[in-house]
Amino acid sequence: MVKARNFDVKDIKLAEMGRQRIEWAYREMPVAKLIRARFTKEKPLKGIRISGCLHITTETANLGLTLKAAGADLVLCASNPLSTQDDVAAALVEFGIPTFAIKGEDCDTYYKHILAALDQKPNITVDDGADLVTVLHTKKKELLKNLIGGSEETTTGVIRLRAMYKAGQLKYPLIAVNDADTKHLFDNRYGTGQSTIDGITRATNVLWAGKRVVVCGYGWVGKGLALRLKGFGSKVIVTEVEPVKGLEAVMEGYEVMPIAEAARIGDIFITVTGDKNVIDKAHFMAMKDGAIICNSGHFNVEINIPALEKMAVSTRTIREYVQEFKLKDGRSLYLLGEGRLINLAAAEGHPASVMDMSFADQALVMEYIVKNRGKLEVKVHDVPPEIDKEVARLKLRAMGVTIDTLTAEQKKYLASWQEGT
Ligand SMILES: NC(=O)c1ccc[n+]([C@@H]2O[C@H](COP(=O)([O-])OP(=O)(O)OC[C@H]3O[C@@H](n4cnc5c(N)ncnc54)[C@H](O)[C@@H]3O)[C@@H](O)[C@H]2O)c1
Repeated sequence: MVKARNFDVKDIKLAEMGRQRIEWAYREMPVAKLIRARFTKEKPLKGIRISGCLHITTETANLGLTLKAAGADLVLCASNPLSTQDDVAAALVEFGIPTFAIKGEDCDTYYKHILAALDQKPNITVDDGADLVTVLHTKKKELLKNLIGGSEETTTGVIRLRAMYKAGQLKYPLIAVNDADTKHLFDNRYGTGQSTIDGITRATNVLWAGKRVVVCGYGWVGKGLALRLKGFGSKVIVTEVEPVKGLEAVMEGYEVMPIAEAARIGDIFITVTGDKNVIDKAHFMAMKDGAIICNSGHFNVEINIPALEKMAVSTRTIREYVQEFKLKDGRSLYLLGEGRLINLAAAEGHPASVMDMSFADQALVMEYIVKNRGKLEVKVHDVPPEIDKEVARLKLRAMGVTIDTLTAEQKKYLASWQEGT
């Protein structure tokens, strides 16, 4: 394998460790394996330049290797300053994929890395959070003419893209991979649900049993997280702004209340809303001494950290990923992972088995964009249902699970209206 010439990683000597961890993750990615085998033969992305802004994890590396096997020229950068696995970034460079990502990089470096990934004048973008697409539409407009399409991995990114489209600013077709059933039903619910608890446990080593845990947001991520916390014996409190979601949480057996009330009784707070200042100054004022606060939503805006910093008389890092804020009245509040997505900051993000489906969607969407070059309307598209079904079918097959098929009689019945009681 030829080492990439351009890159910015923490330490290239970490490559061997990264390579082994990438190999380990691949064991749990049977769908990716099937797709890679086909792509290696058919080369559907031959000569296509792809710039990817993704969490640089072992699973992303496996997606990268699949796209490379398909003939693409791929450059990667981080989609979050704290989510990069430095050994994986080094291994990607050794695999010949130019990578620009260093765990803990500052905001300037983060955006420099996005610009570096765009330097190759991409035909396709793969984004997680829409920062790369935003830079393209603002600082690098001259590159837009090369784009045939792109994909978006997460809820927050899809919301941003839809807002761009609504404002008449979107300039090339984007596909909302997050909204595929084989993505958010599994990745957001089971993947983030599990890995968020993993991140908080690794950062703090807290016992979950008996704790009052406040989950802010009962969307796909919130549902997965709350259910797992219940399994650990936590007393789960949910906060919401949508009545139907609030009702669902009540019927699932959680306490539901406004954050102002939850703030007074919670031991651990986890935001997963994709919204801003969900935990704000007034809530910090009400919290118990020792409360732990963290976020697993895409951006670090869900907790009003500047307000917390202003309220503090002193701060210190008491252990890795745990920052203590001492307040005037003597209370201490603990913020984890700088308010960045805790599952990737303090742990390894989602398990490979679930990313297998999200990244199978991504790989097949890349192929779809190339096949439909010039034919896709400039808007935010859903993932074609055939891709969703194919990914689910392949995953079931890999798991050794078979399901029934409709009989001819059933097909006819389900398409008819005449037959009643
Ligand atoms: N950490 C990760 O690896 C990871 C993985 C997937 C998604 N995400 C991110 O997690 C966030 C949530 O994703 P999702 O798929 O669950 O989205 P979702 O839209 O399904 O759910 C978000 C929920 O938050 C609620 N909400 C909004 N503002 C609120 C407020 N002020 N208080 C309480 N609730 C509020 C909404 O009503 C909604 O029900 C997004 O930012 C997404 O990008 C992170």
